[in-house]
Amino acid sequence: MEILVTGGAGFLGSHLVDALIARGDQVIVFDDLSRGSSDQIADGTTFVEGDVRSIQDWERIFKAHSPKVIHHLAAVNGTRRFHKEADLVVDVNINGTRNALQLAKKHGCRMIFYSSPESFGEQESMPLSNDSESLFPPAHIHQRHSYGASKHIGELLCQFEVRNGLDVRIARLCNAYGPRLHGDDNGQVVSMMMAADPIVVHGDGSQTRCLTWVGDVIDGLLTLTDMDGLEGEAFNLGSTDEITMLELANLISKVRGVGIIHGDANHGDSKRRLPDVSMNEKISWKATTNLSDGLAQLR
Ligand SMILES: NC(=O)c1ccc[n+]([C@@H]2O[C@H](COP(=O)([O-])OP(=O)(O)OC[C@H]3O[C@@H](n4cnc5c(N)ncnc54)[C@H](O)[C@@H]3O)[C@@H](O)[C@H]2O)c1
Repeated sequence: MEILVTGGAGFLGSHLVDALIARGDQVIVFDDLSRGSSDQIADGTTFVEGDVRSIQDWERIFKAHSPKVIHHLAAVNGTRRFHKEADLVVDVNINGTRNALQLAKKHGCRMIFYSSPESFGEQESMPLSNDSESLFPPAHIHQRHSYGASKHIGELLCQFEVRNGLDVRIARLCNAYGPRLHGDDNGQVVSMMMAADPIVVHGDGSQTRCLTWVGDVIDGLLTLTDMDGLEGEAFNLGSTDEITMLELANLISKVRGVGIIHGDANHGDSKRRLPDVSMNEKISWKATTNLSDGLAQLR
């Protein structure tokens, strides 16, 4: 099957592409390489360099290919960027998604949209379910929620098109980690702690996250690619094992033999982000890799 993966040169996208190529799909990667890398794209993939905000770039792809499924991952990601580059986050994440939906509609594609628990903003009532309300603080305080709000609007645009008959599924990833995760200043927590010396814990480190092994996530994404009858459904692809960021730092510092310091908290960091996973019974999916096994594979 021909499948288009936007953001396929990034962390999650490149793992998804590996899995699709391995099972014999024809994969087109559409990425501007702003954060991804062409070295991460599996042999046998067709690579198109372009910007998801450009409708001409989308049309160029559909002139040459007829994908049946679009995995729309391309987005501005990386926690520190959400406040610093809020205008870019909104532009890429919302306009890229509008274009993806437009082309999916025109060509009758199934689409998988990549959302996040951040789409619920600072909702404190856990677990986060498909019925949880999104809660955002006043925008003048900080603009961290450019990302979460853009994912919320992305979901809203998807559900609007579902109402119009499009087959869109939503995957909310919950702190996926694994090889190729970005470890720079704008990166994700596991890889930052694997790279930094000393390890910097943001704030007091009492905030919890549910870290989810990338291999487990990819299994769920393949099911979302193939299974019929999931139009308009959203799945929290996450583990339910909570760990505080200080506990995580302690775990990694022991393995690496480096120290820990505390740095500034990120704007708007939620205290907890526990997913409700009951909806995943429908796709027979569960995170099965425990954290120590996952971390051992990163060394
Ligand atoms: N990693 C996670 O735990 C996690 C959690 C929740 C949601 N998500 C979502 O999953 C998707 C993939 O995340 P990731 O962790 O692989 O991030 P990533 O930054 O590694 O991948 C994003 C990719 O999109 C590309 N891109 C950015 N702007 C683009 C543009 N204008 N045009 C074309 N390509 C562009 C980047 O070059 C990069 O390759 C994103 O939509 C992200 O919001 C990820």
